[in-house]
Amino acid sequence: MAYTKNAEVLSPERRSFASSVNKIRDQSEKSLWAPRRVRRFGRIPRHRSLFWLLSLAVSFSICIGIKIHFHGTASSLQIGNEESAVNNVAEQPRKTRRQRFAPCEVPFLDSVTYLLEPEDNIKFARFSLGYVEREERTLLNEATEARFGGHQTFEDREKSYHATNQTIHCGFVSGPDGFPSTGFDLDEKDKYYMKTCRVVVSSCIFGSFDFLRRPTSKLISEYSKKNVCFVMFVDEQTLAKLSAEGNAPDDRGNIGLWKIVVVKNLPYEDLRKTGKVPKFLSHRLFPSSRYSIWLDSKLRLNADPMLIIEYFLWRTGSEYAISNHYTRHCVWEEVLQNKRLNKYNHSAIDEQFHLYQSDGLTKYDRSDPNIPLPSFVPEGSFIVRAHTAMSNLFSCLWFNEVDRFTSRDQLSFAYTYLKLKRLNPDKHLYLNMFKDCERRAITKLFHHRTDT
Ligand SMILES: *[C@@H]1O[C@H](CO)[C@@H](O)[C@H](O)[C@H]1NC(C)=O
Ligand SMILES: *[C@@H]1O[C@H](CO)[C@@H](O)[C@H](O)[C@H]1NC(C)=O
Repeated sequence: MAYTKNAEVLSPERRSFASSVNKIRDQSEKSLWAPRRVRRFGRIPRHRSLFWLLSLAVSFSICIGIKIHFHGTASSLQIGNEESAVNNVAEQPRKTRRQRFAPCEVPFLDSVTYLLEPEDNIKFARFSLGYVEREERTLLNEATEARFGGHQTFEDREKSYHATNQTIHCGFVSGPDGFPSTGFDLDEKDKYYMKTCRVVVSSCIFGSFDFLRRPTSKLISEYSKKNVCFVMFVDEQTLAKLSAEGNAPDDRGNIGLWKIVVVKNLPYEDLRKTGKVPKFLSHRLFPSSRYSIWLDSKLRLNADPMLIIEYFLWRTGSEYAISNHYTRHCVWEEVLQNKRLNKYNHSAIDEQFHLYQSDGLTKYDRSDPNIPLPSFVPEGSFIVRAHTAMSNLFSCLWFNEVDRFTSRDQLSFAYTYLKLKRLNPDKHLYLNMFKDCERRAITKLFHHRTDT
């Protein structure tokens, strides 16, 4: 029992280790049990053996009951522990594993001094996107509330996948006049500041889920310190907690390099879903920005943002860069894993997954030489983007999937990419799906907070 319980709260990697331990234990238990039972049955008269058999059956079913019960509590523990420091290899040092999850070399330029932004790359698709700002009253009868993501119909959703001049839903949709704010409210001064940013590094902590990790200052160039905006979005609860711990923002609203921006009136009850707003919609939050880097708050930035942009985007001629998952490549596996760890309501996952299967999502086939991506499952904690039309469209589409379905964005990534590709054969999203070991080389992973 204890094993089962532990297995539930372990990270996925340790978990698979634990489940193999479980299997071994099960087998050894069986072989321990079998001879004893035989001996006992040999001595006990027949009618008594029936009694024993019955009690065995009863205790077995009690066992199952307890097991289910344990599963129940373990899964509620699991909430808030999601993605929890997935690489906590240190607790269970195994050489092969450690090697497997070691960072790999990322050959950055030596300095930002001679960096030259490429001329606007003509291969990138050009079209202009507008965003739905306000829901019309006719769409909202009295029964429905205005929502941050708006009320996108299925027809609108289908159309939005076409890379042409059009106006699409992309969060920040307000209700008609007289409706309350749909959330993600920011101070005007912060908004003004955010409008000035050309290159952005951003992250968020909602619900005090993580400690604040400052970028490693000595690895950030003076150029970037002056020209890049480092913005950490927090809710009021997190700010209060940081301040109480002696980590209050200074006069300029900074903690180290991070400019702290407080978000009021969070748009979703699910804090993870709320976290996807800054994660996917940096082109909306920073309307003048041309490049952005997202990192989850469990990561510390250990490299210069301009060198990151040069390496992941400019050097490869890409407009969007994200790492692949360290172990899983197929959405089918990801769905199983999500359910196993009880990451989300199972029927909601099924609903989303069934729709995706009926609309073109295929299993990842590593033997297919024309496979469009090195993996169908991303490790989305680190994303580098040029704010081009195609990249912004992809970000909006991915966000809309998360808004409509589950906050588990690893489930919707490949579907969104493949559908966008299918519907726009002549317009390409230049996506650089890099190796997870590269992400590990430029960010340091920490455990989530456990004291909240
Ligand atoms: C799309 O918009 C751009 C500028 O906003 C314009 O130059 C172009 O002609 C438009 N394309 C079409 C097909 O309407
Ligand atoms: C789970 O998801 C289904 C389908 O989306 C929904 O009807 C149900 O209310 C959800 N259950 C919980 C406990 O949230």
